[in-house]
Amino acid sequence: MRQAEQDRLKAEIDHYLETSTTTMAEEEYLNPVGVYGDPDFARRERELFRAVPVVIAHESKIPNPGDFVTHDQSGVPVLVVRQEDGCVRAFFNLCRHRGAKLALEDEGCARRFTCIYHAWSFKPDGSLAGIPNDDGFRGVDRSAYGLTELPCEVRHGMVWVVLTPGASIDVAAHLGAELDDELTSFGLAGYQVERETEIAEQANWKLLVDGFLETYHLRFLHSDTVGPFIRSNCGPFKQFGLHGRMVIVRSRYDSEKSVGDRFLRDVGAVYQIFPNTVLVWQSTHFERWAMFPDGDDPGRCKGYTSILAPQGQESDTRLWDTNWKILLDTVQQEDWPVARATQAGLFAGAQDTFVFGRNEPGLQHFHKTVQRLADETPVAISAR
Ligand code: FES
Ligand SMILES: [Fe+2]
Repeated sequence: MRQAEQDRLKAEIDHYLETSTTTMAEEEYLNPVGVYGDPDFARRERELFRAVPVVIAHESKIPNPGDFVTHDQSGVPVLVVRQEDGCVRAFFNLCRHRGAKLALEDEGCARRFTCIYHAWSFKPDGSLAGIPNDDGFRGVDRSAYGLTELPCEVRHGMVWVVLTPGASIDVAAHLGAELDDELTSFGLAGYQVERETEIAEQANWKLLVDGFLETYHLRFLHSDTVGPFIRSNCGPFKQFGLHGRMVIVRSRYDSEKSVGDRFLRDVGAVYQIFPNTVLVWQSTHFERWAMFPDGDDPGRCKGYTSILAPQGQESDTRLWDTNWKILLDTVQQEDWPVARATQAGLFAGAQDTFVFGRNEPGLQHFHKTVQRLADETPVAISAR
């Protein structure tokens, strides 16, 4: 975070602490509960997910030519491969013969990808390398049967893909100049995956995101875990176009002492990157979260969470073990049971809306943005 923004934020935090308040939206917002369970809304969201860049991997996992990762959580099978020239390309992970899934491993290194069904093989650049018994395919133009490529870009160390062939991709434009610059200031391109696990929950993907977007619940739900270490109901919030950033103020924050290098250690920052990435600055590292709708069931989601640590920093296994345990204990054992129960409760039809307080501006911004863009055509969104 640039110094000028740190200075501005510090004044804002000090004011909130003095006056026991936080960033307030203009008014409360009534969010329709249908966004968590309505099949038609879920269908429009799935189109939205295929129209904007989404993060599907971290480039540190594929440092060398031929290194690959596969990704299924979005519902679109994707193969991401490091190329000979160092760039990263993405393809549908589907064989061009009759559509079998091509690479079956989560990650690896390959000079050829060979389909298990009839052994058609493909090079890391996606081109078709071989067809067994090819006299049965004399009329096939091999150059037209490479893997179908997806628009892909590496930025801030993350691999972004638009899940629609032929679409344009411009991650910097998607983020906007201000947020792009702020992520650059953290040197995120120099981070690596330290821990990672998959997520599968019986809750709408947005219920999981919601848990990151306000500090109102901390001293209640997390009273025995992170609650004592973070100030509840103090979360300076700022919009960055489609995206948002909520700052977390640690209990150790001191208006006089939290200056210079200490400022960014005494605060955290939750970057909500539209649509489904949550990046959390945790003073020494980042957490990266991604939640995708699971198939056509709005009541389930899939995704992953990772700890990203600065590369070259001596790897302190105990430190990462401790951070990982805190993260999993807090989110999996406290936040997500609430999300699951909320999702289950939707069937009761008890209410048409949930109320987002003035003190929950991040939630308001996230939901209003999802609803606005889900109402637009994918074509209009990708042209933005
Ligand atoms: S489906 Fe892959 S080789 Fe036949
Ligand atoms: Fe929480």
